[in-house]
Amino acid sequence: MDWNIRYAEGDTPWDKGLAHPVLREPLVRGMLEGRVLVPGCGTGHDVRELALGGLEVTGLDVAPLAIGRALAHPPVARETYVHGDLFGLPAEFKGAFDGVFEHTCFCAIDPARRADYASAVASTLKPGGRLLAVFYTEPDNGGDGPPFGCTAQELDELFKDGFRLLGERRGVPTFAGREDRELLRLFKRV
Ligand SMILES: C[S@@+](CC[C@H](N)C(=O)[O-])C[C@H]1O[C@@H](n2cnc3c(N)ncnc32)[C@H](O)[C@@H]1O
Repeated sequence: MDWNIRYAEGDTPWDKGLAHPVLREPLVRGMLEGRVLVPGCGTGHDVRELALGGLEVTGLDVAPLAIGRALAHPPVARETYVHGDLFGLPAEFKGAFDGVFEHTCFCAIDPARRADYASAVASTLKPGGRLLAVFYTEPDNGGDGPPFGCTAQELDELFKDGFRLLGERRGVPTFAGREDRELLRLFKRV
């Protein structure tokens, strides 16, 4: 998948023009604190929403056009954007974050790289840091992806080393068409 071409062609159905609705819940936003990384941030809606909540947020994306659009948006608070690959992180990202917010990055990557995803996210977190993730469980796209779906069992297996599951919720507020197809999970880096 060449993500930059998707942005160049305007073929970005995942971009709803606003942050994931679950971030409007103070209880959910409060699950993260300090310095937060948003991998696969796209044009930065989630980054800005979290930054407005007082967090110091870094958005990372492999598509230069996405980062360019995020940077073109007037800053709302203490947000920054980095063009880069989650699978080749800059050294300064190692153990640098108190939290990671996942939304539509995990489902975008090749399922064969999911263990690499878990390792990469773990590497960015400080001990005790948190991963707050909206996982797309049922993409309903006929089997071809991205997005690639996942099951709770797969997630259990992938995040069993280095993370402890603190809680989960189904049926979270979301975009039209995604109702009951997502799983919110909160992990602690151990
Ligand atoms: C489905 S889009 C979601 C974008 C954004 N989270 C949103 O909801 O609007 C997936 C994003 O992940 C980015 N991405 C895919 N693989 C990546 C990687 N290895 N490292 C960083 N970003 C990646 C793509 O460029 C794309 O912007």
